[in-house]
Amino acid sequence: MRVILRLLPLLAAGGFLPTWAADETTSTTSATTKGLLTLDGTIHSKISDAATPTGHYQTYTSTVTLGNHGSIIGSRTVTGTETMMTASNSSSETKTKTSHSLTVLQGSQTISGGNHTANATRTATASATESPVVNTQPCNGYAEFCARNYSNITMVAAHNSPFVKPGSVAANQALLVESQLNDGVRMLQFQTHRVNDTMYLCHSSCEMLNVGTLESYLTTVARWMRANPYDVITILMGNSDYVDPGNFTGPIQNSGLMDMVYTPSKIPMALDDWPTLSTLILSGKRAVMFLDYQANQTAYPWLMDEFSQLWETPFSPTDRDFPCDVQRPPDLAPNDAKNRMYMANHNLNLQVNMLNLDLLIPNTAELNVTNAVSGYGSLGVMARNCTKQWDRPPNFLLVDYYNYGPTNGSVFEVAADMNNVTYNGKCCGIASAAVGLTPQSVLATVLVIGGLQILTSMF
Ligand SMILES: *[C@@H]1O[C@H](CO)[C@@H](O)[C@H](O)[C@H]1NC(C)=O
Ligand SMILES: *[C@@H]1O[C@H](CO)[C@@H](O)[C@H](O)[C@H]1NC(C)=O
Ligand SMILES: *[C@@H]1O[C@H](CO)[C@@H](O)[C@H](O)[C@H]1NC(C)=O
Ligand SMILES: *[C@@H]1O[C@H](CO)[C@@H](O)[C@H](O)[C@H]1NC(C)=O
Ligand SMILES: *[C@@H]1O[C@H](CO)[C@@H](O)[C@H](O)[C@H]1NC(C)=O
Ligand SMILES: *[C@@H]1O[C@H](CO)[C@@H](O)[C@H](O)[C@H]1NC(C)=O
Ligand SMILES: *[C@@H]1O[C@H](CO)[C@@H](O)[C@H](O)[C@H]1NC(C)=O
Ligand SMILES: *[C@@H]1O[C@H](CO)[C@@H](O)[C@H](O)[C@H]1NC(C)=O
Ligand SMILES: *[C@@H]1O[C@H](CO)[C@@H](O)[C@H](O)[C@H]1NC(C)=O
Ligand SMILES: *[C@@H]1O[C@H](CO)[C@@H](O)[C@H](O)[C@H]1NC(C)=O
Ligand SMILES: *[C@@H]1O[C@H](CO)[C@@H](O)[C@H](O)[C@H]1NC(C)=O
Ligand SMILES: *[C@@H]1O[C@H](CO)[C@@H](O)[C@H](O)[C@H]1NC(C)=O
Repeated sequence: MRVILRLLPLLAAGGFLPTWAADETTSTTSATTKGLLTLDGTIHSKISDAATPTGHYQTYTSTVTLGNHGSIIGSRTVTGTETMMTASNSSSETKTKTSHSLTVLQGSQTISGGNHTANATRTATASATESPVVNTQPCNGYAEFCARNYSNITMVAAHNSPFVKPGSVAANQALLVESQLNDGVRMLQFQTHRVNDTMYLCHSSCEMLNVGTLESYLTTVARWMRANPYDVITILMGNSDYVDPGNFTGPIQNSGLMDMVYTPSKIPMALDDWPTLSTLILSGKRAVMFLDYQANQTAYPWLMDEFSQLWETPFSPTDRDFPCDVQRPPDLAPNDAKNRMYMANHNLNLQVNMLNLDLLIPNTAELNVTNAVSGYGSLGVMARNCTKQWDRPPNFLLVDYYNYGPTNGSVFEVAADMNNVTYNGKCCGIASAAVGLTPQSVLATVLVIGGLQILTSMF
């Protein structure tokens, strides 16, 4: 609000004369001026999403071991092997001759839902020679990842992946999910809301931004995954209305995703319990699904409880220091934190508090720095800071507008640095409806609500 008041004279000078809305209803106007971000629609209820979500946090005193099909077979804390393999031949072979050696994906993978069988690999070079093994089939874009544990890879996560709407303050991404996946995003995060008995993808409220049903979004994801059989995708769903997890199974089944969903071997999965990417890929179970609140792994072992296997740094930060402390689950003991995966929340926000809105909106004006490899407030600095603090890099780097940065694909470059691989430079898709957010327009973010135009950020 301080910023807003300070800048109002500038707006008036620029011809934006503020007028207050007469009633408590926030009706919004659309602005076509380049550089203005607006909130469309009429909002009747109070919307407040600036608070950190909270809910019941699950803790386990012992580990539950799951059987072949996710059935619970016992509750010993020590278990042996991965039992989830379903591929016809899923042996993987580790070559340790030279430092360049890689595990080669070997065996064939049956892709359900289609009639084709893809060859997972090429064969390793003759073992008699010392020549390095060159894997021609990368896993998640890099051959080096095939042999690595899922929990030992840093992935870029698209914050609120489905919320793509040019010019809207309620949007978090410029490119649709297919582009996100093509460009290398490997975790899709978003919030869900239950309206009329159906799960929708809405930002804060379905009155504010509703981009359609969960089922339709997951159908797109499932289609992409079938076309890209060597990629492991993580889906982290926010259960904003804290509904029964049974509401998620229909959309997951109907979208065609279900037969690719991974069922963990244990509940909860500790850092070293996760299989390698090759194992996931060869088994065909390549969709790793988490739910933030109300998961019930007794009923649905595959719809994993987020916070018992993954912790997060502070939610929707507005602090450019990006401290790497545990925020959720609250009161997590340091040793427990070290023994599970973690997500660095690096989606920088501005807090907007006016009329009946109390929102955190993406700080698009700072994106060029926020998504950069280096510099104060950058993703690179946070990732390196986190690595120092926890002795290992974050598993997930959660960002808004992943395709913006001082260099193309800078967020992926940060992930590649964390992974000790060379960035493959394959970014980014181009926004088809390239209005609203362009590198020029991110210089200023103007929120237009009820005829009142507010410059929320500039520089
Ligand atoms: C799997 O591959 C190994 C080695 O390549 C081979 O010995 C074995 O017979 C194969 N198993 C099946 C079921 O095809
Ligand atoms: C797979 O093959 C069966 C019988 O050969 C056919 O009925 C079915 O439509 C095919 N499925 C796809 C997805 O092509
Ligand atoms: C798989 O590999 C075998 C032997 O290398 C080859 O004959 C076959 O055509 C391949 N299949 C596919 C689907 O690429
Ligand atoms: C993977 O594990 C190795 C060995 O513990 C560690 O040095 C590296 O930082 C880890 N990388 C990631 C991305 O977790
Ligand atoms: C829910 O149903 C009501 C009444 O039929 C309708 O007005 C509203 O648009 C529906 N909401 C959504 C998000 O589809
Ligand atoms: C959806 O959630 C509501 C509220 O928690 C619950 O009453 C309902 O039974 C759930 N529906 C399904 C299909 O699980
Ligand atoms: C991968 O997981 C295995 C256990 O499944 C563990 O022994 C190994 O240390 C892990 N590797 C890395 C690099 O973390
Ligand atoms: C979880 O699911 C199981 C099996 O369906 C059920 O017995 C249990 O009450 C559920 N737990 C909660 C907290 O809903
Ligand atoms: C990084 O870590 C240092 C020391 O732990 C801390 O002082 C600093 O604020 C952190 N953040 C940035 C952006 O440097
Ligand atoms: C973003 O950073 C690059 C490189 O530092 C610079 O050339 C570009 O002008 C910046 N863009 C904006 C919108 O600040
Ligand atoms: C960055 O991406 C844009 C859009 O895809 C492209 O036009 C431009 O050439 C790229 N720049 C570099 C340095 O690759
Ligand atoms: C990073 O990769 C290089 C080879 O590309 C290797 O020499 C080095 O040991 C690796 N570092 C770590 C920490 O894994």
